[in-house]
Amino acid sequence: MTKLTDQSLLKKASYWQGEWHDADNCFDVTNPANGDVIAKVANSSADDAEKAVAAAHRAFNAWAARPAAERAELLLRWQQLLLEHQDDLALLLTLEQGKPLAEAKGEIAYGAGYLQWFAEEAKRVYGDTIPAKTDDQRIIVIKQPVGVVAAVTPWNFPNAMIARKAAAALAAGCTFVVKPAQLTPLSALAMAELADRAGIPAGVFNVITSTDAKAIGEVLTEDKRVAKFSFTGSTKIGKQLAKQCAGTVKRVSLELGGNAPFIVFDDADLDAAIDGLMASKFRNAGQTCVCTNRILVQQKVLAAFTEKLLKAIGKLKLGDGTADNVDIGPLINHDACDKVDKLLNEALALGAKLQCGGKRQAADSLFYLPTLITGVNNDMAVAQQEIFGPVAAIQSFDTDAEAIALANATDSGLAAYFYSRDIGRVWRVAEALQYGMVGINEGMVSNPAAPFGGVKQSGYGREGSKYGLADYLDIKYLCLGGLAD
Ligand code: SIN
Repeated sequence: MTKLTDQSLLKKASYWQGEWHDADNCFDVTNPANGDVIAKVANSSADDAEKAVAAAHRAFNAWAARPAAERAELLLRWQQLLLEHQDDLALLLTLEQGKPLAEAKGEIAYGAGYLQWFAEEAKRVYGDTIPAKTDDQRIIVIKQPVGVVAAVTPWNFPNAMIARKAAAALAAGCTFVVKPAQLTPLSALAMAELADRAGIPAGVFNVITSTDAKAIGEVLTEDKRVAKFSFTGSTKIGKQLAKQCAGTVKRVSLELGGNAPFIVFDDADLDAAIDGLMASKFRNAGQTCVCTNRILVQQKVLAAFTEKLLKAIGKLKLGDGTADNVDIGPLINHDACDKVDKLLNEALALGAKLQCGGKRQAADSLFYLPTLITGVNNDMAVAQQEIFGPVAAIQSFDTDAEAIALANATDSGLAAYFYSRDIGRVWRVAEALQYGMVGINEGMVSNPAAPFGGVKQSGYGREGSKYGLADYLDIKYLCLGGLAD
């Protein structure tokens, strides 16, 4: 931490009502690259979470009443501060999460991009007028912020997942309480420090750090003062949280797990497909919800594609994210490594072939070797569960219909990717894939201007784009009568 240029970005207390709040006890935040304790952070309680919700509730009316242009100005100031402190924020992120510094810097810019996007969108919350049935009436539609928004965010994008929810909420005129993942609270707290410096008023942006996800989650999903709940994380937890929200009929957005297919058709530009796959599969050591999980390659190009992929994987450098030229950092913890081991070993036992990697760098380390397996089939657990690790798993297919059927044979529907140069095939496949996002000749689809989100059990609601703001707005219909002379 001595390497931080601005030491005051390292915060260790929860933040609500514009103030920092210690707790009776603390929890350790560790660096997955070496197990070092980086900080001891306030282990806030359910009572504290209620105080944060109360602060957000108190702040709501005044924030909602601010002209959109003023809210936008504050969001832009916050965005600028994120970019000014990009190096420090990236270092904090790498230390607590493990991703390489270059990727961490990219995440800060990505998160700041949501603040900018929604600052701009804040000014475009248009209503409607609708022709009325009679001439003494007018029908008017206005849009208003839903109220207090609560969010629970994951460890794989400790900055950007908060930025994209908070940016939309604040732009719409909502106030916000977030519980960041216990593994990565420092990025969230640094964002709170910068929100404060940007002049975001007390109570508008609040952060509760805690190891007691259940108790804090109960407050955020059950408190009547919370109007909307937004979650990014596993499908299993998302289902539970959605159930909890039902009691108070909250608006809910869920961005849950994926099982992305990456289809390579025989007319694809194979080098472009390799580049797209490397980005999609190995970003964040394979720990993203939109990471490729299943690689489906048409028989005719299977051998050539596999050979190219093996070469590309061979060039990846595994190491501590703070070191130079590292492509892949550690996995987040031992559970993550154990899960990858289990999926891999089961696939190998069922006949898949190991082409490279297949284990941790050393027995007790969190560094998992970039791995390629071939001969996978869709029934294996490695093809049905999120791997969340640097394992590329290849299956083959013969016909377009077979590829589409394989791709859709999952309960998930977040992101899918395919490579083809044939325009007819491009349209047919794009329309047939049951996914919320489809990368066509493109391995990276994330972008603040685009609607991020899934279908099926990958969740509902969209983040980013003009659609992202709608999730934080209520539609109100005004019927203006008595207009006759
Ligand atoms: C995620 O893993 O859920 C987010 C990935 C992204 O925004 O690109």
